Amino acid sequence: GVALVWVTIRVIGQFRTLYNSQQAASVRLEQALQAKADFIADASHELRTPLTVLRGNAEAGLAIDRNSVHREIFEEIVSEASRMTKLVEDLLFLARSDADTVPLDIESVAAVPLLLDLAERARVLMRREGISFATRLDGYGTLDVDAVRIEQAVMILLDNAAKYSPEGKAVRLASSSWRNEFIIEVADQGPGIQGEDIPYVFERFRRADKKRNRTRGGTGLGLAIAKTIIDAHHGRIEVHSRVDEGTQMRIYLPLAAPERTRVLQSSVEKPLELAP
Ligand SMILES: Nc1ncnc2c1ncn2[C@@H]1O[C@H](COP(=O)(O)OP(=O)(O)O)[C@@H](O)[C@H]1O
Ligand SMILES: [Mg+2]
Repeated sequence: GVALVWVTIRVIGQFRTLYNSQQAASVRLEQALQAKADFIADASHELRTPLTVLRGNAEAGLAIDRNSVHREIFEEIVSEASRMTKLVEDLLFLARSDADTVPLDIESVAAVPLLLDLAERARVLMRREGISFATRLDGYGTLDVDAVRIEQAVMILLDNAAKYSPEGKAVRLASSSWRNEFIIEVADQGPGIQGEDIPYVFERFRRADKKRNRTRGGTGLGLAIAKTIIDAHHGRIEVHSRVDEGTQMRIYLPLAAPERTRVLQSSVEKPLELAP
């Protein structure tokens, strides 16, 4: 009896020590994460400010005399500073997501109208790039999402579809609802992705065909960011691709509570708009 009590007390004591050291470790971890998040915020601010100055000065130089012999140099400074600003923003976003500090501004939005808006903006970009673009936006339901971030993720897919498709090939944007998910699909008839590269396309700085890609300005962060955004919304993103046939990227997002999902039933189809 006495032995049992003694063992019990000892075990409880050990548990308490273990618990205390675990508490201390989790406090240290929290402090470390906070320090990392602060560092990321500071570093990106420090990087962005001089880039803005650089770009502003080069633009001022261009504005003073558009025919100057220095025009090409100024233009290159403007374009490289913009590229680097984008890169800093992308890295900041990924670093924040590592530190679990991605700020999401979640709101309930009707799914199809969200995509209609996005499709209109995409249409303008596609027209400018001379890419044929078609949409078929079906489905129903409400999404609890950060609409700006979702648009960013879909735009990354559309940008890839347009960038890697040869001239004259169309890019398609489609949506549908299936059970409790809303599905957004971006499809192209481009070169496709080799089977061995498919598992890695969502990795940072991963670019499948280095030779082909060198000519197309990209950093290899697009799909990593898209996946981070979709993961943060508890959705998933899938690739289906066949070499020489094309690529389909699908985003699956959980629909909001069923009693709210019959808010909107619609189907909007726009025929293929051929590039000029
Ligand atoms: N629609 C597509 N068709 C063919 N290859 C693609 C497509 N989308 C992505 N890829 C491949 O996946 C890689 C990673 O894409 P991404 O993360 O957007 O980086 P980036 O476009 O900057 O290279 C690309 O470099 C390309 O090799
Ligand atoms: Mg890309």
